[in-house]
Amino acid sequence: MIILIVNTVLIVSGITGFLALLLVIADLLFANYGECTISINGKKELKVKGGSSLLSLLNENKIFLASACGGRGTCGFCKCEVISGAGPLLPTEKPFLNAADIAAGIRLSCQIKVKEDIAIKIPESIFNIRKFTAEVTDIVDLTYDIKEFTLKIIKPEVINFKAGQYVQLQTPPYEKSRQSVNRAYSISSSSSREDQIQLIIRYVPDGVCTTYLFQYLKQGAQINFTGPFGDFYIRDTDNDMLFVAGGSGKAPIKSMLEYLSENNSTRRMVYMFGARSRKDLYYTELFEKLEKELPDFTYVPVLSQPTEECEWQGKCGYVPPFFPEYIRDPQKTEAYLCGSPGMIAAVIKGLKELGVPEDKIYYDSFA
Ligand SMILES: Cc1cc2nc3c(=O)[nH]c(=O)nc-3n(C[C@H](O)[C@H](O)[C@H](O)COP(=O)(O)OP(=O)(O)OC[C@H]3O[C@@H](n4cnc5c(N)ncnc54)[C@H](O)[C@@H]3O)c2cc1C
Ligand code: FES
Repeated sequence: MIILIVNTVLIVSGITGFLALLLVIADLLFANYGECTISINGKKELKVKGGSSLLSLLNENKIFLASACGGRGTCGFCKCEVISGAGPLLPTEKPFLNAADIAAGIRLSCQIKVKEDIAIKIPESIFNIRKFTAEVTDIVDLTYDIKEFTLKIIKPEVINFKAGQYVQLQTPPYEKSRQSVNRAYSISSSSSREDQIQLIIRYVPDGVCTTYLFQYLKQGAQINFTGPFGDFYIRDTDNDMLFVAGGSGKAPIKSMLEYLSENNSTRRMVYMFGARSRKDLYYTELFEKLEKELPDFTYVPVLSQPTEECEWQGKCGYVPPFFPEYIRDPQKTEAYLCGSPGMIAAVIKGLKELGVPEDKIYYDSFA
């Protein structure tokens, strides 16, 4: 009986999969959607050849929506408001949209195929996002798995961004990937440098983009990126600031602290850097220098797995248990977090338990 049920399920799934594949192939080979119009904010109209995703057609017309996963439907960054012409909501969009999003017509632009005239609404700030070409002028090892890349802007000549924002690097097709990919990287350098940016990148084994950056990209080569993106930047208040970020999550925090130092900020700041052992620490001297430059800044590295050879005298364990020692008034504390989704969830839980208001917690998740 069980064998019969399993066989039936397999046969039905096989037939369904085959029919779905036929539909995709037929769509690719025979569908011709002709010329379609993308109307933007009721002001601008683009004439495009139908059949591609809304995200890619906007990109072709130099309108760059955020897309940290490069259009694979896994980041949820490419949301935009659709007024008409997008067809029904797709199952691939649902995990990223809540009830309020759906009611407001928010859709994932990488999942919508333009098959007819479509009307959308996007923030005016998106028109400021540019495509840049840069030369890789320096690649430095910061740890065994983290490198810093310096990119000198070639075209257009300067970039304006807020400390904490990120860019999307575009890697070309290479032997490990037939397709060009886009990935998000936070700018680690100060926003006062308009002629170059620096990125701090951790190698992800078998990762398409990081393998290219670590093993194929050489000093002197050119690379394209779009940006700046994101709303992870310093709020202009008098609140105390708590920064929490480990690994390459240090990138936007470094940019923010350099900006605060250059602008003689007198705000109270603490940066808690979580790492496994001493070999994961980097830029220690730079942050000790910032402690001297800023009137009220404390840098606190915390090691979760210090080895005996480490001879570590500092804090041990995870970061959240140390919050009471460094947060003097939770209600007047702004928190800036950066790193993996798991780390961010754990830190937010710890902050909320202590009474830091949720609307004062800002983060970029390296999802
Ligand atoms: C807003 C934003 C800013 C970011 N800024 C930075 C930054 O400054 N520095 C930085 O190093 N990264 C940053 N990231 C992460 C970066 O965009 C890529 O996801 C990461 O470099 C992996 O890309 P890849 O193409 O090499 O791996 P993929 O080919 O995309 O992934 C390969 C495999 O590794 C897994 N994976 C993907 N990312 C990670 C990860 N970070 N850790 C462990 N496993 C992973 C995937 O699930 C997949 O199974 C940021 C992400 C976002 C969304
Ligand atoms: S670009 Fe990532 S979900 Fe659309």
